[in-house]
Amino acid sequence: MKRIVILISGRGSNMQALVEAGLPVAAVISNRADAGGLAYAAGRGIATAIVPHRNYATREAFDAALAQAIDGFRPDLVVLAGFMRILTDSFVRRYQDHMLNIHPSLLPAFPGLDTHARALAAGVKLHGCSVHFVTAALDHGPIVIQAAVPVLAHDDEARLAARVLAQEHRIYPQAARWFVEGKLVIDSGVVRVMGDHPQQLYAP
Ligand code: GRF
Repeated sequence: MKRIVILISGRGSNMQALVEAGLPVAAVISNRADAGGLAYAAGRGIATAIVPHRNYATREAFDAALAQAIDGFRPDLVVLAGFMRILTDSFVRRYQDHMLNIHPSLLPAFPGLDTHARALAAGVKLHGCSVHFVTAALDHGPIVIQAAVPVLAHDDEARLAARVLAQEHRIYPQAARWFVEGKLVIDSGVVRVMGDHPQQLYAP
């Protein structure tokens, strides 16, 4: 059985979607003791750990402690689910091709924060979310699956975010399942799924 470790910083709704999809989640780790998702994980009998970033003087020291906590659970896959820390290059290299992130935009559009507000301001007509392998470049890296949603005339940030989040909860479990089933192949920075599964989803 493959093992997944999920890193969160907040409410953890994507983590919850992964757990509810029946994926083999060995542990949930947070950099914040007040992350809402920790209580949910503990309630499901999943191991939890807290590595508070404030306890470490440097990013390197924090990432080393985080890696030690992760490796204690011997994961095959590390899943970033609303984990709000910039990772060092050496941390990213350690889990290269074994670490996924979800980002609330159709990458490579709108990397970084405030994606929904930026999408509205830019007037794009399609927005969405992307699951990608983590590389040293923030919110870049080989894309596993994307979901697109329409941007509607009277959308505000909250409405658009909710429509995107519903799709995050669909594509993240799918991507993680493909990984644990050994179906993902990265070929020159492009991800393919063995067996001809669609890597895009439209939610009108
Ligand atoms: C999601 O929108 C995710 O795409 C982004 O941070 C948010 C986390 O939400 N990276 P949750 O903690 O999974 O509910």
